[in-house]
Amino acid sequence: TELAQIRNFSIVAHIDHGKSTLADRLIQLTGTVAERDMKSQLLDSMDIERERGITIKANTVRIEYPAKDGKTYILNLIDTPGHVDFAYEVSRSMRAVEGSLLVVDATQGVEAQTLANAYQAIDADHELVPVLNKIDLPASEPEKVKAEIEDVIGIDASQAVPISAKTGIGIPDVLEAIVARLPSPKGDRSAPLKAMLVDSWYDPYLGVVVMIRVMDGVIKKGDRIKMMQTGALYGVDKLAVLKPQMVDIAELGPGEIGVFTASIKQVRDTRVGDTITHEKKPCDKALPGFKPAQPVVFCGLFPVDAADFEALRDAIEKLALNDASFSYEMETSAALGFGFRMGFLGLLHLEVVRDRLEREYDLDLITTAPSVVFKLHMRDGEVRELHNPADMPDLTYVDHIEEPRIKATIMVPDDYLGDVLKLCQDRRGIQMDLTYAGSRAMVVYDLPLAEVVFDFYDRLKSVTKGYASFDYQMLEYREDNLVKMSILVNDEPVDALSIMVHRDRAESRGRVMCEKLKELIPRHMFKIPVQAAIGGRVIARETIAAMRKDVTAKCYGGDVTRKKKLLEKQKAGKKKMRQFGKVEIPQSAFISALKMD
Ligand code: GTP
Repeated sequence: TELAQIRNFSIVAHIDHGKSTLADRLIQLTGTVAERDMKSQLLDSMDIERERGITIKANTVRIEYPAKDGKTYILNLIDTPGHVDFAYEVSRSMRAVEGSLLVVDATQGVEAQTLANAYQAIDADHELVPVLNKIDLPASEPEKVKAEIEDVIGIDASQAVPISAKTGIGIPDVLEAIVARLPSPKGDRSAPLKAMLVDSWYDPYLGVVVMIRVMDGVIKKGDRIKMMQTGALYGVDKLAVLKPQMVDIAELGPGEIGVFTASIKQVRDTRVGDTITHEKKPCDKALPGFKPAQPVVFCGLFPVDAADFEALRDAIEKLALNDASFSYEMETSAALGFGFRMGFLGLLHLEVVRDRLEREYDLDLITTAPSVVFKLHMRDGEVRELHNPADMPDLTYVDHIEEPRIKATIMVPDDYLGDVLKLCQDRRGIQMDLTYAGSRAMVVYDLPLAEVVFDFYDRLKSVTKGYASFDYQMLEYREDNLVKMSILVNDEPVDALSIMVHRDRAESRGRVMCEKLKELIPRHMFKIPVQAAIGGRVIARETIAAMRKDVTAKCYGGDVTRKKKLLEKQKAGKKKMRQFGKVEIPQSAFISALKMD
C-alpha cells in the first residue's frame, strides 16, 4: 500500500466518553464487519471488559475507507485502554501511530483522563482531532466544551467534529477528518526491516500472537526474524491483519500494522517495544527501548478453601501466559495458609486479575489489603524492597524508609472542592496546584501512593457524588516516618493484617482497626483481646466479650429439615472463617478492617 494512503490512529478519551462506541461505528460504517456479526462494543473482547465497560487490552483493527477524494485509504485503529493503571499500554501503542481522535463527552467536558491521555498523545508527536460526542443528548454543550478543550488542554478546537457515536451523526465527518487532518506514516521500503513490537497475547489455537508496526522494510510470511533486545530468532509462520478477526496477508510494508505468529511459547518471551528485524540483513539501530511496566501494588491472594491451592497455582500460571504485567510468588501466612503474593500495575489491574481468577477458574479467594513497594534503607547500606508489611525487619536494622509518591490530578465541580481538599489532606497530601476551568476546579496533589491504593478512589467518588475524575502519575520515592503496625488477636499477631502507617497516624488507624475487628469477629466462648501494636508497644485495644448463651440451642425441637438446613448454613459459614489459634476470623474482616470511613 502507498504510504500516502495509510492513516494510523488511536482514540483517546476519559472513561465512558464513548471511545468503544465510536470505534464500533467506524468499523460498521466502513463495512469492515458484516452487520449481522456486529456485536456492540466489538473491540472489548473479554467478558469482564464488556461487563464493566472498560477497555483493558489494546486491540487494533484495519479499516478500508473509500474517501470523498475517490481514493481508498487503509485506516489502522489502535484501541488503547482508558484507565490510569494502563497508562503504560497507552504510551506504547501511541508510538505506533501518527495521530489521535480526542473524544470528549459534550455533556461532561474535559476530565482528568482526557487531559492525561491528550498529553500522552502530544508527547508522542500526534496530530489531534478533537471529537465532541453525545450531541444527541439535550444536555450536551458542544460550544462550551470546545472552549474548555482550548482552555484546559491548550489545543485548537475550532475544527472539533460534533458527533453522536450512538445514533451515527457525524461519523462520516470523522472518517474524512482522519484522512484530511492526520499525517500519513513515513518509512523506507527498500531499507532493512525495522518493526516495533506493539503488543502480544496468547491465543489458545495459535500460541503467542505478536502485533507489530513496520517502520522500514517489508516483512513476509516465512521470513527469518530476530528480536533485537532478546536476541531470539524465529521464523514467521503466519502473517495477518486484524479486521478485527485475522485475515492472512502476504506482506506488511512501511507504515502498516499487523500480527504474526512464530511458534513463540509464552508472552513473557516477547518484550513490548522490542525491535524486530531480519536475521540475515538486520537494521543497524534498534528503536529506542521501552522500560517494562513495574508492578506498584501488591497483595496476597489465598484460596478460601485451602484444598484449592493447586488449582489457584494452575490458574495463575495460565493467566500469566497472557498477561506479563503482573508478578507472583508463593506466600505463606500464619493466618491464611498457602497463597501467592501478587504485584499489579494498579488497583484496577488487581481487580481485573482477581475477578478473572474467580470467574474463569471458579475459585473463591481472599485478598489481603493492597500495599505499595517501600524502599528500606538498611543501616549496613543495603537498599531492600518491601512488598509485604509482614516481612518488615526489626526497626533497629533499618536506617530510614522511603515510599512512592504520586502526582494526582483531580477535576471536580466547585461545590465539592472543599470535600476533595479535605480528603487529600487527610491522606497526607501536599497541594501543588489549584486552577479553574469554568465552574470546575483542577487540583493537583502530591500524595503517598500507599494512601491512594486502598480506598481513595471510592472515597473520592462518594464525597463528590461521582462527579470527580482522577488521574495520577508516579512522582518519586521519598523518606517519611513510617512504621509497621501489627494487629494481635487473642495476643497473637495476625500477619495478614499488618500494615505500614505514618507514625503520626498510627494511633488513630490502630484504634479504628480494633473497633472494626471487634464488630467483625463473632463472639467466642471466651474473652478475646484485639490490639494494635508498634514493635512491642500496644497503641490501641478493644475486647470482644465472651458469648453468654449457646445459640445452637435454638435448633432443638424444630423440624429436621430446618435443622439440617441450618447446619448446612453453618458449614458454609465456617468455610468463610479462618481458624486463628483458638479464634475464628471471618475472611471479610481482612479487607473491611482496613477501610478508613
Ligand atoms: P471505556 O471503554 O470504559 O474507556 O469507555 P468508552 O469511552 O469506550 O465508552 P463507551 O463507548 O463504552 O460508552 C460509554 C457509555 O456512553 C455507553 O453506555 C454508551 O452507550 C454511551 N454512549 C456512547 N456514545 C454515545 C452517544 O453518542 N450518545 C449517547 N446518548 N450515549 C452514548
